[in-house]
Amino acid sequence: MSRVYNFSAGPAVLPEEVLREAAAEMMDYQGTGMSVMEMSHRSRAFENILNEAEQDLKDLMQIPDNYKILFMQGGAHLQFAAIPMNLMKNRVADYIITGQWAKKAFKEAQIYGKANAIASSEDETFSYIPDCSDLNISPDADYVYICENNTIYGTKFHTLPNTKGKLLVSDVSSCFLSEPVDVSKYGLIYGGVQKNIGPAGMAIVIIREDLITEDTLPYTPTYMKYKIHADANSLYNTPNCYCIYMCGKVFKWLKKQGGLEVMKARNEEKAAVLYDFLDSSRLFKGTVRKEDRSMMNVPFVTGDKELDAKFVKEAEEAGLVNLKGHRSVGGMRASIYNAMPLEGVKALVEFMKKFEEEN
Ligand SMILES: Cc1ncc(COP(=O)(O)O)c(C=O)c1O
Repeated sequence: MSRVYNFSAGPAVLPEEVLREAAAEMMDYQGTGMSVMEMSHRSRAFENILNEAEQDLKDLMQIPDNYKILFMQGGAHLQFAAIPMNLMKNRVADYIITGQWAKKAFKEAQIYGKANAIASSEDETFSYIPDCSDLNISPDADYVYICENNTIYGTKFHTLPNTKGKLLVSDVSSCFLSEPVDVSKYGLIYGGVQKNIGPAGMAIVIIREDLITEDTLPYTPTYMKYKIHADANSLYNTPNCYCIYMCGKVFKWLKKQGGLEVMKARNEEKAAVLYDFLDSSRLFKGTVRKEDRSMMNVPFVTGDKELDAKFVKEAEEAGLVNLKGHRSVGGMRASIYNAMPLEGVKALVEFMKKFEEEN
């Protein structure tokens, strides 16, 4: 068996221990004589998987009792629509545009109501997080929306915006469970799980209970009503059972590592290894304002497109794969999620040093 260091932005690296466990349980999950993939979602065995996953996530994030966890299909994109459909009571919402994903969510919300772009960093290719301490929040805004970690550009909100009392809605797809968060500061937190938690095909929505109501926009598809999922404990229809099972395993793995404080310390250490090198490198440069850097996605360039392509190719030959930057920005990007070991980041930096000497 040969494993590479996989720096993909998502779907992304998963903990090896989790993959081994899933492999061992493939033919016979805990004496049931079948795989979780073959199991009824109404079975006792699956109900236990679901309930444990929910409880473990609650423990990890210290989610207060007045929040509900929903496991929904459709990835993050479905939530771009579900959020306005469920929360836009006045049909007004404010969006902070810090990258392509925030922009896509903003454009989707415009279909359903008046979505205002109240701040943006597009003027400098989304390489920074705008000052959000005193924004022009709309008096009738139903919520303020952010993409907390910008996967493509490698920026992160290190301070949450001052929403002036309005609900905060956050897409945490690419920083989910990378560090502790104070859930009570948000009305809704959500993310696709395929970056830091599990396989693709599902989003986790953490929503304050009082926001779960029958009062959704007209024509909201039944599947997209949060209340339907909350009332059915994420079993309204056949959920993405295998994905929930894998996420549950990752939650247990995170607990075993020591929880989110430990993950934060590890992620800081990993990111520092790469950023310290970038700051001292003659050839490679980070592309993001220092104080807004993400611990999860680290974009960098040489300044020469041909050299970038050479780097990506040679890195791949050395077992360091998926380092090509997003197609919209070029250059390189190393995604160093929870499951990327420190050794992987060190191996990348060693390779970059060697490449720098040779080029
Ligand atoms: C921050 C963020 N939001 C949303 C998405 C879109 O997610 P999905 O493909 O699950 O719809 C992505 C990446 O794919 C992302 O990185």
